Amino acid sequence: MKVFDSAISEQFAAYNVDTVEFTAAMPANSIDLSVYSPPFSSLYIYSESERDMGNVANDDEFQECYRPLVRDLFRVTRPGRCTAIHVKDLVYYSNASSKGDRGLRDFTGDCIRTHVAEGWTYHRRITIWRCPVREMQKTKSDRLLYKNFRQDAARTGGGMPEYLVVFRKWADEMADTSPVVHEAAQYPVESWQHMAQPSYLITDLWNDTDETDTLNVRVARDPDAEKHLCPMPLDLTERMVIQYSNPAETLYSPFMGIGSEGVVSLRNGRKFIGTELNPTYYGQAVKHLREAEVAGPASDLFSRAI
Ligand SMILES: C[S@@+](CC[C@H](N)C(=O)[O-])C[C@H]1O[C@@H](n2cnc3c(N)ncnc32)[C@H](O)[C@@H]1O
Repeated sequence: MKVFDSAISEQFAAYNVDTVEFTAAMPANSIDLSVYSPPFSSLYIYSESERDMGNVANDDEFQECYRPLVRDLFRVTRPGRCTAIHVKDLVYYSNASSKGDRGLRDFTGDCIRTHVAEGWTYHRRITIWRCPVREMQKTKSDRLLYKNFRQDAARTGGGMPEYLVVFRKWADEMADTSPVVHEAAQYPVESWQHMAQPSYLITDLWNDTDETDTLNVRVARDPDAEKHLCPMPLDLTERMVIQYSNPAETLYSPFMGIGSEGVVSLRNGRKFIGTELNPTYYGQAVKHLREAEVAGPASDLFSRAI
Protein backbone atom coordinates (compact mmCIF):
# COMPACT_ATOMS: atom_id res chain seq x y z
CA MET A 1 0.00 0.00 0.00
CA LYS A 2 1.29 3.47 -0.89
CA VAL A 3 0.65 6.06 1.83
CA PHE A 4 1.47 9.41 0.16
CA ASP A 5 1.33 11.41 3.39
CA SER A 6 0.04 11.13 6.93
CA ALA A 7 -0.56 13.33 9.97
CA ILE A 8 -0.93 11.65 13.33
CA SER A 9 -1.71 13.33 16.63
CA GLU A 10 -3.29 12.34 19.93
CA GLN A 11 -6.84 12.90 18.71
CA PHE A 12 -6.67 12.08 15.00
CA ALA A 13 -4.85 10.17 12.28
CA ALA A 14 -5.21 11.37 8.68
CA TYR A 15 -3.84 9.54 5.64
CA ASN A 16 -3.43 10.56 2.01
CA VAL A 17 -4.07 7.09 0.62
CA ASP A 18 -6.45 4.89 -1.35
CA THR A 19 -9.12 4.03 1.21
CA VAL A 20 -9.84 0.59 -0.25
CA GLU A 21 -6.26 -0.55 0.38
CA PHE A 22 -6.04 1.22 3.74
CA THR A 23 -9.33 -0.12 5.12
CA ALA A 24 -8.38 -3.66 4.05
CA ALA A 25 -5.34 -3.38 6.34
CA MET A 26 -7.24 -2.05 9.39
CA PRO A 27 -7.78 -4.37 12.36
CA ALA A 28 -11.18 -6.06 12.78
CA ASN A 29 -13.71 -4.58 15.24
CA SER A 30 -11.61 -1.44 15.80
CA ILE A 31 -14.03 1.34 14.74
CA ASP A 32 -17.00 2.51 16.82
CA LEU A 33 -18.78 4.44 14.05
CA SER A 34 -18.06 5.41 10.46
CA VAL A 35 -19.80 8.41 8.97
CA TYR A 36 -19.12 9.79 5.50
CA SER A 37 -20.23 10.84 2.03
CA PRO A 38 -19.01 8.51 -0.71
CA PRO A 39 -18.40 9.94 -4.18
CA PHE A 40 -21.85 10.10 -5.81
CA SER A 41 -21.00 7.55 -8.50
CA SER A 42 -19.53 9.33 -11.57
CA LEU A 43 -21.06 12.74 -10.71
CA TYR A 44 -17.63 14.29 -9.99
CA ILE A 45 -14.09 13.15 -10.64
CA TYR A 46 -11.95 14.38 -7.75
CA SER A 47 -8.50 13.54 -9.10
CA GLU A 48 -6.74 12.03 -12.08
CA SER A 49 -6.05 8.84 -10.13
CA GLU A 50 -7.65 5.67 -11.44
CA ARG A 51 -8.22 4.83 -7.77
CA ASP A 52 -10.56 7.81 -7.46
CA MET A 53 -13.95 6.17 -6.99
CA GLY A 54 -15.60 9.03 -8.89
CA ASN A 55 -13.51 8.04 -11.89
CA VAL A 56 -15.95 5.36 -13.10
CA ALA A 57 -17.95 4.87 -16.29
CA ASN A 58 -21.33 4.17 -14.73
CA ASP A 59 -23.27 3.29 -11.58
CA ASP A 60 -22.59 -0.45 -11.83
CA GLU A 61 -18.86 0.15 -12.02
CA PHE A 62 -19.09 2.46 -9.01
CA GLN A 63 -20.80 -0.22 -6.89
CA GLU A 64 -18.17 -2.76 -8.01
CA CYS A 65 -15.39 -0.47 -6.73
CA TYR A 66 -17.32 0.48 -3.58
CA ARG A 67 -18.29 -3.06 -2.56
CA PRO A 68 -14.86 -4.19 -1.20
CA LEU A 69 -14.76 -1.08 0.97
CA VAL A 70 -18.27 -1.72 2.32
CA ARG A 71 -17.17 -5.29 3.11
CA ASP A 72 -14.07 -4.12 5.01
CA LEU A 73 -16.03 -1.43 6.84
CA PHE A 74 -18.27 -4.22 8.13
CA ARG A 75 -15.21 -6.16 9.29
CA VAL A 76 -13.54 -3.19 11.05
CA THR A 77 -16.74 -1.99 12.79
CA ARG A 78 -17.29 -3.09 16.37
CA PRO A 79 -20.18 -5.58 16.61
CA GLY A 80 -23.50 -3.88 17.28
CA ARG A 81 -22.31 -0.53 15.90
CA CYS A 82 -23.21 1.49 12.83
CA THR A 83 -22.10 3.17 9.64
CA ALA A 84 -23.95 6.28 8.40
CA ILE A 85 -23.66 7.40 4.79
CA HIS A 86 -24.75 10.65 3.15
CA VAL A 87 -26.17 9.98 -0.33
CA LYS A 88 -28.79 11.15 -2.84
CA ASP A 89 -30.49 9.96 -5.98
CA LEU A 90 -28.96 11.17 -9.23
CA VAL A 91 -30.40 12.39 -12.53
CA TYR A 92 -29.60 11.21 -16.04
CA TYR A 93 -30.03 13.13 -19.28
CA SER A 94 -31.13 12.16 -22.77
CA ASN A 95 -27.57 12.01 -24.11
CA ALA A 96 -26.86 9.19 -21.62
CA SER A 97 -29.98 7.20 -22.43
CA SER A 98 -30.58 4.76 -25.28
CA LYS A 99 -34.28 5.73 -25.18
CA GLY A 100 -33.47 9.45 -25.27
CA ASP A 101 -35.36 9.97 -22.01
CA ARG A 102 -34.37 11.80 -18.82
CA GLY A 103 -34.98 10.56 -15.32
CA LEU A 104 -33.62 9.51 -11.95
CA ARG A 105 -31.03 6.91 -10.97
CA ASP A 106 -31.64 5.12 -7.67
CA PHE A 107 -28.11 5.65 -6.33
CA THR A 108 -29.41 5.54 -2.73
CA GLY A 109 -31.05 2.17 -3.35
CA ASP A 110 -27.89 0.85 -5.05
CA CYS A 111 -25.85 1.77 -1.96
CA ILE A 112 -28.40 0.13 0.35
CA ARG A 113 -28.32 -3.09 -1.71
CA THR A 114 -24.51 -3.16 -1.67
CA HIS A 115 -24.45 -2.79 2.14
CA VAL A 116 -27.06 -5.48 2.71
CA ALA A 117 -25.21 -7.83 0.32
CA GLU A 118 -22.05 -7.31 2.40
CA GLY A 119 -23.67 -8.22 5.72
CA TRP A 120 -24.94 -4.87 7.03
CA THR A 121 -28.49 -4.54 8.36
CA TYR A 122 -30.44 -1.65 6.81
CA HIS A 123 -31.32 0.32 9.95
CA ARG A 124 -32.59 3.82 9.20
CA ARG A 125 -33.06 6.42 6.45
CA ILE A 126 -33.30 10.16 7.23
CA THR A 127 -34.45 12.53 4.52
CA ILE A 128 -32.59 15.84 4.36
CA TRP A 129 -34.76 18.60 2.94
CA ARG A 130 -33.14 20.72 0.26
CA CYS A 131 -34.50 23.99 -1.09
CA PRO A 132 -35.85 23.47 -4.67
CA VAL A 133 -35.42 27.17 -5.49
CA ARG A 134 -31.75 27.10 -4.57
CA GLU A 135 -31.37 23.85 -6.53
CA MET A 136 -33.06 25.40 -9.60
CA GLN A 137 -30.76 28.43 -9.43
CA LYS A 138 -27.70 26.19 -9.13
CA THR A 139 -28.54 23.49 -11.68
CA LYS A 140 -31.04 25.20 -14.06
CA SER A 141 -32.58 21.74 -14.28
CA ASP A 142 -35.64 21.71 -16.54
CA ARG A 143 -37.27 19.51 -13.88
CA LEU A 144 -37.54 22.65 -11.74
CA LEU A 145 -38.34 25.45 -14.21
CA TYR A 146 -41.50 27.47 -13.65
CA LYS A 147 -41.76 27.89 -17.44
CA ASN A 148 -42.11 24.12 -17.77
CA PHE A 149 -44.59 23.99 -14.93
CA ARG A 150 -46.76 26.45 -16.90
CA GLN A 151 -46.30 24.98 -20.37
CA ASP A 152 -45.53 21.26 -20.06
CA ALA A 153 -45.71 20.21 -16.43
CA ALA A 154 -45.24 16.47 -17.07
CA ARG A 155 -41.58 17.37 -17.71
CA THR A 156 -41.19 18.80 -14.24
CA GLY A 157 -40.06 16.86 -11.21
CA GLY A 158 -39.34 18.37 -7.80
CA GLY A 159 -36.47 19.14 -5.47
CA MET A 160 -33.98 16.36 -4.81
CA PRO A 161 -33.53 15.55 -1.13
CA GLU A 162 -30.41 13.99 0.30
CA TYR A 163 -30.40 11.09 2.72
CA LEU A 164 -28.48 9.85 5.71
CA VAL A 165 -28.70 6.07 5.57
CA VAL A 166 -27.66 4.12 8.65
CA PHE A 167 -26.65 0.45 8.66
CA ARG A 168 -25.90 -1.70 11.70
CA LYS A 169 -23.44 -4.56 12.17
CA TRP A 170 -25.71 -7.00 13.92
CA ALA A 171 -23.80 -9.15 16.40
CA ASP A 172 -24.60 -12.81 17.12
CA GLU A 173 -24.78 -12.05 20.79
CA MET A 174 -25.85 -8.43 21.22
CA ALA A 175 -25.58 -8.74 25.01
CA ASP A 176 -21.77 -8.86 24.74
CA THR A 177 -21.51 -5.63 22.79
CA SER A 178 -20.75 -2.29 24.38
CA PRO A 179 -23.77 0.01 24.06
CA VAL A 180 -23.89 3.71 23.21
CA VAL A 181 -25.41 5.39 26.27
CA HIS A 182 -26.88 8.85 26.93
CA GLU A 183 -27.38 10.41 30.38
CA ALA A 184 -30.90 11.74 30.90
CA ALA A 185 -29.46 14.88 32.54
CA GLN A 186 -27.56 15.77 29.37
CA TYR A 187 -30.05 14.38 26.86
CA PRO A 188 -33.63 14.71 28.13
CA VAL A 189 -36.50 13.00 26.34
CA GLU A 190 -37.11 16.08 24.14
CA SER A 191 -33.62 15.78 22.66
CA TRP A 192 -34.25 12.13 21.85
CA GLN A 193 -37.55 13.07 20.20
CA HIS A 194 -35.67 15.58 18.05
CA MET A 195 -32.98 13.08 17.10
CA ALA A 196 -35.54 10.42 16.21
CA GLN A 197 -37.11 12.57 13.46
CA PRO A 198 -37.34 10.73 10.12
CA SER A 199 -36.57 13.87 8.17
CA TYR A 200 -34.45 16.87 8.94
CA LEU A 201 -35.67 20.37 8.16
CA ILE A 202 -39.30 19.76 7.30
CA THR A 203 -40.80 21.29 10.42
CA ASP A 204 -40.12 24.50 12.25
CA LEU A 205 -38.40 22.45 14.92
CA TRP A 206 -35.65 21.80 12.45
CA ASN A 207 -35.18 25.17 10.84
CA ASP A 208 -32.10 25.71 13.01
CA THR A 209 -30.32 23.56 10.45
CA ASP A 210 -28.44 25.81 8.08
CA GLU A 211 -28.08 24.49 4.54
CA THR A 212 -24.71 26.19 4.30
CA ASP A 213 -23.32 24.73 7.55
CA THR A 214 -20.37 23.07 5.84
CA LEU A 215 -16.60 23.50 5.93
CA ASN A 216 -16.63 24.03 2.18
CA VAL A 217 -18.06 27.51 2.57
CA ARG A 218 -14.81 28.60 4.13
CA VAL A 219 -12.62 26.60 1.79
CA ALA A 220 -14.34 28.04 -1.30
CA ARG A 221 -12.39 31.22 -0.68
CA ASP A 222 -9.14 29.27 -0.99
CA PRO A 223 -7.98 29.43 -4.65
CA ASP A 224 -6.34 26.00 -4.33
CA ALA A 225 -9.50 24.22 -3.33
CA GLU A 226 -11.43 22.46 -6.05
CA LYS A 227 -15.09 23.13 -6.59
CA HIS A 228 -16.94 19.86 -6.74
CA LEU A 229 -16.69 18.56 -3.23
CA CYS A 230 -20.07 17.71 -1.72
CA PRO A 231 -19.24 18.39 1.90
CA MET A 232 -21.02 16.61 4.73
CA PRO A 233 -23.34 19.06 6.53
CA LEU A 234 -21.66 19.59 9.92
CA ASP A 235 -24.82 19.78 12.01
CA LEU A 236 -26.31 16.62 10.52
CA THR A 237 -23.02 14.77 10.97
CA GLU A 238 -23.05 15.88 14.59
CA ARG A 239 -26.46 14.31 15.14
CA MET A 240 -25.09 10.97 13.88
CA VAL A 241 -21.95 11.25 16.04
CA ILE A 242 -23.95 11.99 19.19
CA GLN A 243 -26.64 9.38 18.64
CA TYR A 244 -24.38 6.53 17.51
CA SER A 245 -21.11 6.86 19.47
CA ASN A 246 -19.86 7.47 22.99
CA PRO A 247 -17.36 10.21 23.92
CA ALA A 248 -13.70 9.20 23.42
CA GLU A 249 -14.58 6.47 20.90
CA THR A 250 -12.91 6.16 17.50
CA LEU A 251 -14.75 7.34 14.40
CA TYR A 252 -13.72 6.75 10.81
CA SER A 253 -14.35 8.48 7.49
CA PRO A 254 -12.97 6.56 4.50
CA PHE A 255 -13.63 9.60 2.25
CA MET A 256 -12.72 12.45 4.56
CA GLY A 257 -12.49 15.17 1.87
CA ILE A 258 -11.61 18.43 3.62
CA GLY A 259 -12.23 16.90 7.04
CA SER A 260 -15.87 17.65 7.94
CA GLU A 261 -16.55 14.38 9.76
CA GLY A 262 -13.21 14.65 11.57
CA VAL A 263 -13.85 18.20 12.75
CA VAL A 264 -17.26 17.16 14.11
CA SER A 265 -15.70 14.11 15.82
CA LEU A 266 -13.04 16.21 17.58
CA ARG A 267 -15.53 18.94 18.53
CA ASN A 268 -17.57 16.22 20.21
CA GLY A 269 -14.68 14.66 22.10
CA ARG A 270 -14.27 11.63 19.82
CA LYS A 271 -11.06 10.39 18.16
CA PHE A 272 -10.92 10.33 14.38
CA ILE A 273 -9.26 8.35 11.59
CA GLY A 274 -9.66 9.60 8.03
CA THR A 275 -8.42 8.68 4.56
CA GLU A 276 -8.44 10.86 1.45
CA LEU A 277 -6.92 10.33 -2.00
CA ASN A 278 -6.86 13.90 -3.32
CA PRO A 279 -3.74 15.64 -1.90
CA THR A 280 -5.33 19.14 -1.90
CA TYR A 281 -8.34 17.95 0.08
CA TYR A 282 -6.08 15.93 2.35
CA GLY A 283 -4.02 19.07 3.11
CA GLN A 284 -7.18 21.04 3.86
CA ALA A 285 -8.44 18.24 6.11
CA VAL A 286 -5.23 18.18 8.14
CA LYS A 287 -5.42 21.96 8.58
CA HIS A 288 -9.04 21.74 9.76
CA LEU A 289 -8.28 18.80 12.05
CA ARG A 290 -5.32 20.61 13.66
CA GLU A 291 -7.49 23.69 14.26
CA ALA A 292 -10.25 21.54 15.77
CA GLU A 293 -7.78 19.73 17.99
CA VAL A 294 -6.34 23.00 19.30
CA ALA A 295 -9.87 24.38 19.90
CA GLY A 296 -10.80 21.23 21.85
CA PRO A 297 -14.30 19.84 22.38
CA ALA A 298 -16.99 22.53 22.10
CA SER A 299 -18.84 23.46 25.28
CA ASP A 300 -22.21 24.08 23.57
CA LEU A 301 -22.44 20.62 22.03
CA PHE A 302 -25.93 19.87 23.06
CA SER A 303 -27.48 23.08 21.80
CA ARG A 304 -25.71 22.61 18.45
CA ALA A 305 -26.87 19.03 18.12
CA ILE A 306 -30.53 19.75 18.48
C1 LIG B 1 -18.22 13.39 -1.37
S1 LIG B 1 -16.52 13.68 -1.15
C2 LIG B 1 -16.34 13.67 0.60
C3 LIG B 1 -16.45 15.01 1.22
C4 LIG B 1 -16.24 15.02 2.72
N1 LIG B 1 -17.32 14.35 3.41
C5 LIG B 1 -16.13 16.45 3.23
O1 LIG B 1 -17.09 16.93 3.86
O2 LIG B 1 -15.14 17.11 2.95
C6 LIG B 1 -15.78 12.16 -1.60
C7 LIG B 1 -14.28 12.14 -1.43
O3 LIG B 1 -13.80 10.84 -1.71
C8 LIG B 1 -12.46 10.98 -2.18
N2 LIG B 1 -12.06 9.69 -2.80
C9 LIG B 1 -12.48 9.17 -3.98
N3 LIG B 1 -11.90 7.96 -4.19
C10 LIG B 1 -11.11 7.70 -3.10
C11 LIG B 1 -10.30 6.61 -2.73
N4 LIG B 1 -10.16 5.51 -3.49
N5 LIG B 1 -9.64 6.69 -1.54
C12 LIG B 1 -9.76 7.79 -0.74
N6 LIG B 1 -10.53 8.86 -1.05
C13 LIG B 1 -11.21 8.82 -2.22
C14 LIG B 1 -12.56 12.16 -3.12
O4 LIG B 1 -11.29 12.74 -3.38
C15 LIG B 1 -13.51 13.09 -2.34
O5 LIG B 1 -12.79 13.98 -1.54
